[in-house]
Amino acid sequence: ALDVPKAADLLAWYDRHARDLPWRVSPGDRAAGVVPDPYRVWLSEVMLQQTTVAAVKSYFERFTTLWPTVGDLAAAPDAQVMGEWAGLGYYARARNLLKCARVVAKEHGGTFPTTREGLLALPGIGPYTAAAISAIAYDAPEVVVDGNVERVMARVHDIRTPLPAAKPELTEAAAHLTPDARAGDYAQAVMDLGATVCTPKSPACGVCPWMGACAARAAGVQAELPLKTPK
Ligand code: ADE
Repeated sequence: ALDVPKAADLLAWYDRHARDLPWRVSPGDRAAGVVPDPYRVWLSEVMLQQTTVAAVKSYFERFTTLWPTVGDLAAAPDAQVMGEWAGLGYYARARNLLKCARVVAKEHGGTFPTTREGLLALPGIGPYTAAAISAIAYDAPEVVVDGNVERVMARVHDIRTPLPAAKPELTEAAAHLTPDARAGDYAQAVMDLGATVCTPKSPACGVCPWMGACAARAAGVQAELPLKTPK
């Protein structure tokens, strides 16, 4: 019989297999409950919006070396920031990035708002980024849904409604699984699972912490999900 997917099993997997990424705290710090700086979470999430993890890494390191705080970024000349962004693409992101940094510096004394509403009011921060910052930097039990999460949810629950119509159903499934504690680790654990195990092609089900709970795997359809409505 199928197990129920448990956040605890995914978190135990994350404790062993989390990717070492420059915007994350060290494993030791994470075990001690240390959360990353909201500035670093925000910057990484904006960079990751239309760009791969592999491409973002060096840009993130360069930006945080040049501008360690949101106040430093806010004070940077536009042309320098746009120059450092070159290669990441989608330049509206860089313009909003600077706008947002300046609002946080001038109107919030250099501290990111701690509420979802406060975050959503900032330039360039939409529901996904607000949820990601709240979960990862503040450990709030927010539901963070990106493409990886959609794929994992479609498979675990064998949801055969095609995207994009399936979005509400997938979000509901993700909400149901999100734990009250370690929400930031949980959000990043689903992303890592989707990026390294529950991959679009040839998922590595044999090493998946949710193998025994995966309805798509039980039905043998995991590699076909999520379904997509043809364009
Ligand atoms: N993609 C978007 N946000 C991410 C994060 N925090 N870690 C890994 N991949 C991501």
